[in-house]
Amino acid sequence: MDFNRPNLQKARKRTDKSIDIINFKLDDKYKDLGLNKKYNVITFGCQGNEADSEVMSGILEMMGFTHSEKEDADVLIINTCAIRENAEDRFYGTVGGLKALKQKKKDMIICICGCMAQEEKTITKILEKYPQIDVVFGTHNIHMLPEYIYKQMETNKRVIEVYSEEGNIIEKLPHIRLSNKKAWVNIMFGCDEFCTYCIVPYTRGKERSRRPQEIIREVEDLVKNGYLEVTLLGQNVNAYGKDFKDIDYTFSNLLLDLSDTGIKRIRYTTSHPRDLDEATMKAMQRENIMPHLHLPVQSGSNAVLKKMNRKYTHEEYLEKIKRLKELNPGISITTDIIVAFPTETEEDFLETLKLCEEVDYEGAFTFIYSPREGTPAAKYENNITDEEAHRRLDILHDKINAGYLKGNKRFEGKIVKVLVDGTSKNDPNTLCGYSEHNKLVNFKGNVNAIGTIVNVKITEAKTWFLIGEQVE
Ligand code: 5AD
Ligand code: SF4
Repeated sequence: MDFNRPNLQKARKRTDKSIDIINFKLDDKYKDLGLNKKYNVITFGCQGNEADSEVMSGILEMMGFTHSEKEDADVLIINTCAIRENAEDRFYGTVGGLKALKQKKKDMIICICGCMAQEEKTITKILEKYPQIDVVFGTHNIHMLPEYIYKQMETNKRVIEVYSEEGNIIEKLPHIRLSNKKAWVNIMFGCDEFCTYCIVPYTRGKERSRRPQEIIREVEDLVKNGYLEVTLLGQNVNAYGKDFKDIDYTFSNLLLDLSDTGIKRIRYTTSHPRDLDEATMKAMQRENIMPHLHLPVQSGSNAVLKKMNRKYTHEEYLEKIKRLKELNPGISITTDIIVAFPTETEEDFLETLKLCEEVDYEGAFTFIYSPREGTPAAKYENNITDEEAHRRLDILHDKINAGYLKGNKRFEGKIVKVLVDGTSKNDPNTLCGYSEHNKLVNFKGNVNAIGTIVNVKITEAKTWFLIGEQVE
């Protein structure tokens, strides 16, 4: 059996080793491997994973595979997420369910990749308990997928290839994008922040930025192909460019250059408050850079922030928000918050609630702390009960929901620009899309508007969405 096993401690290391940029090219040997065969990709986790899945779909289609439902797939890929325990549990639930499918369809090749594949404990469990899995590879080598499928087909043996080192940058990757108007664009990979609760710096490796000209070219091509919106992706986009040794070019430079491509809408995620600089806040004044910022705070307590290794205080965070609002009046701000981090006291939690009011968040992803094996926080003593954690989460939800509604109410009676995604899930006669402030809008309009940006007059604000009518 081929065996290249991950190691979280090795993955923690950061060196000065230079990053290789490799251009993807499909070897002729793999070109017809997928002829008359089908594939499906199941994706868990963040937008980074969604973007990776689009690349894997692109690679598989280059190999001749066509997309199908998972029951009919000859190659089924599960792209996993390790951020919290429940993401891992959902993955094991899915794999368990595939046992019967694999018995019916013996030739099906089941591949596992993504962040969980980077963890030793996943590999151990797969070896012990999940014979239905044929191929395992990690976040650093998705471009090697053709080779792994080939090897598995040739030998009919399990292939496990996970690298723990920092990783390179692979360019010229194909994509099958889910939308033909909105695109994810990776601008950097990895994370060097090492927040004490987070597994990502171990599973995604060292911070590596794509060269500006590659990103600009990608966005120019998207514009040519009729795309209206890009979302720039990275674990900490504000650190973009800090790893360049030969040029002085950071995130704000990139935002301005991409703004000049003429793309109608630019969004980005996710940001680290410490690295958000004045130049970026100013760049956001450009009309095609959307007036919404997702700025994860995690906690409002200085003691907890310190334990989390966030490298900013409650006050410093508020200072940045104040400046951001001065430079960009009306900007919508959302965040991520973790409750019940080990050591979080009632007073600490109250500090978080206070901060929510001070910032006036218009939305948040809220989580109960989940220990991740191999991270420093997993070793902290934690005596917060589940019941108490849920109590805090419920209180926080109420506060955040009030913010959602308040943030939506300010658009009542106003005209907003909506990029129309399609018809609403619950009502085929209603169109839906997102406004510049990233508000979901359901509205009465013309079906021809799908895939375009239209003006919508908001008639009513609900907690989770706005209701309106298209206007000329
Ligand atoms: N437990 C709970 N939430 C976490 N996040 C990251 N790691 C953990 C963890 N161990 C949250 C953070 C981050 C978001 C993507 O997930 O809020 O911003
Ligand atoms: Fe999950 Fe984080 Fe990995 Fe994304 S980067 S797949 S959210 S663990």
